[in-house]
Amino acid sequence: MASFSSSSSWLLLLLCMLFFGSAFAHLSENFYATSCPKALSIIESGVKSAISKDRSLGPSLFKLHFHDCLVGGCDASLLLDGTLAEKNTMPDHNPQKYEVIDEIKAELEKECPGVVSCTDILSVVARDSVVQLGGPNWTVPLGRRDSTKANSPLANIGILSLLGGLNAQISGFERKGFSKQEFVALTGGHTIGMARCLFYKKRIHEKKSDIDPEFAKALQKDCPIFGGDDHYTPIDSTTPLVFDNAYFTNLINKKGLLQSDQDMYTGKGGVTDDLVLSYSKNNDKFFEDFAKAVVKVGFLDVLTGNNGVIRTNCRKVDGKTGRTEL
Ligand SMILES: *[C@@H]1O[C@H](CO)[C@@H](O)[C@H](O)[C@H]1NC(C)=O
Repeated sequence: MASFSSSSSWLLLLLCMLFFGSAFAHLSENFYATSCPKALSIIESGVKSAISKDRSLGPSLFKLHFHDCLVGGCDASLLLDGTLAEKNTMPDHNPQKYEVIDEIKAELEKECPGVVSCTDILSVVARDSVVQLGGPNWTVPLGRRDSTKANSPLANIGILSLLGGLNAQISGFERKGFSKQEFVALTGGHTIGMARCLFYKKRIHEKKSDIDPEFAKALQKDCPIFGGDDHYTPIDSTTPLVFDNAYFTNLINKKGLLQSDQDMYTGKGGVTDDLVLSYSKNNDKFFEDFAKAVVKVGFLDVLTGNNGVIRTNCRKVDGKTGRTEL
């Protein structure tokens, strides 16, 4: 997942929600209040310590939750090792993030064995990473359980077939219950995203009127017409490791790195122009809408109650089974 999403756009990942139902489940912010009262503070200190050593881990840690939820539902199948593992289906420029999750999980297992699911860890890690990078804080609904198998790599191929224009993306979201506004707010996560040269090469060499020529020129050195495909660069060129609304301001200034992002602001009355403009002017509004939309993503196809397991090692299927299976 990592390369595809960090490279082009996790919007495309979001589109795969089309393939899966999103039954509403009951989650609660107090889920671990008695079973593991220290859970949230253990996760928070793990995230803090990782990001203080290497700030670039922040974006990678944040994105895990999205990848988890958007391919087959929030169930930590993303973290499973093995040949069919989702994480092996594409190149990864930052495998260290999985070690951070392993360390947090190990701490949690010491404190309260077999209680905190891997997918819930990812949801809290996402929030804590955004906070560490200067973004909004929000309350994380908890109580998801982990899957016992990896999703088929076909899930990823499915996403590729959905490559469409802006309107197709918006309607894909709408079918899943996300408004146009939520869609635009979620793209704001690109404020801390990285993109792979292969996915912005065309745009920076094409000399179209929707790109700032100086901006394009500065990027061409590391992403030439031939070669350099695997070079990574921040999507938000102004404040790459700060979670803020600069990504939207960049779009207004024709400094969107990815074409799919730039298409959200045309300056000619495009369908999302007004939303991009309002987020660029109002950081608080962006933070509020982003947080709400992320919480909604965290409800996609979750396993609760007797479904799924609590894995004790996020990389393996070794968890306690649900009561129905005992
Ligand atoms: C974020 O909000 C939660 C409550 O929703 C709170 O427990 C936590 O301490 C807050 N984090 C920070 C860094 O303020």
